[in-house]
Amino acid sequence: MTRVSASAPGKTILFGEHAVVYGQPALAVPVHAVASTATLDDEVAGGGLRIDLVNLGRTFHLAECPLTDPIALVIRLCLDRLGIGEPSGLLTVSSTVPISSGLGSGASVSAAICRALIAYSDVSVGDSEISEIVFESEKIHHGTPSGIDNTVICYDQPIYFSKGKPPTMLEVGKPFDIIVADTGVPSPTKAAVAAVRDQFDRDTKQTANIIEQIGEISEEAAKVISSGDLSPLGELMNRNHQLLQLLNVSSSELDSLVAAALRGGASGAKLSGGGRGGNLIAYCPANPQPVIDALLTNGASQVWQTTVE
Ligand code: PMV
Repeated sequence: MTRVSASAPGKTILFGEHAVVYGQPALAVPVHAVASTATLDDEVAGGGLRIDLVNLGRTFHLAECPLTDPIALVIRLCLDRLGIGEPSGLLTVSSTVPISSGLGSGASVSAAICRALIAYSDVSVGDSEISEIVFESEKIHHGTPSGIDNTVICYDQPIYFSKGKPPTMLEVGKPFDIIVADTGVPSPTKAAVAAVRDQFDRDTKQTANIIEQIGEISEEAAKVISSGDLSPLGELMNRNHQLLQLLNVSSSELDSLVAAALRGGASGAKLSGGGRGGNLIAYCPANPQPVIDALLTNGASQVWQTTVE
């Protein structure tokens, strides 16, 4: 019997969510405080692959699952790429990435599965190919994803991302910490992206202007991050959050936690990901503990700290 295991991080978007769907640049970083793990225990006897999605309490055979299921799709695409048949055994998948919260749970789980199958096969597959496979499962989760989640999670590095272009690594002049907080309100990205599309179709001129301003903030933030002089970073986050409010993807929970982070001493805070719930991030160059305390006392369900480097 062979056992192989692999994992993949979560992610957070620093700047540019939603605008990235319309071709503007966005910046994203892996978050290692949360992760997904896939473990394959193969068995000698035939019987196909059983999949145990521990967090969802769901167990099924690959053979009985249609390709409209993102997990089945990712396994099939990966096996095809590796040129191997379906292994017989048990694939156990677990994750500490909260679902529908902007931390990339779907892409993280898919990437961990790909990496476990690759380890089992001993075939070498590059990060960009893994990202392409994971992107296919993202389409099922998100409808019309920009590709930012699969890219940052599969490359496992800070990225500067523009839809349809090869990703560029985001240069980090000086490592810095950000605080990530979960509102505890799950929010499907698909619905938030569709609502912004609706706003864009109804009021194209105004919405395109907001989206362009977000793109300019991402550009500016990339320069700030690579320079290592991070003093403008908080203000850029605050401006990005205001523009996301104008796109109507914030929520009362997000706004109240952003305000709590600022009162606690953060120099900037914004929603991160699809919005309408899910996560926010805060930048606090000084002691982060008062910000973490403020977020928890004001209703954050979980708080993490992650280093961008
Ligand atoms: O998966 P989330 O919730 O982090 O959102 C992804 C970011 C969006 O820009 C809202 C959508 C996309 O596909 O880029």
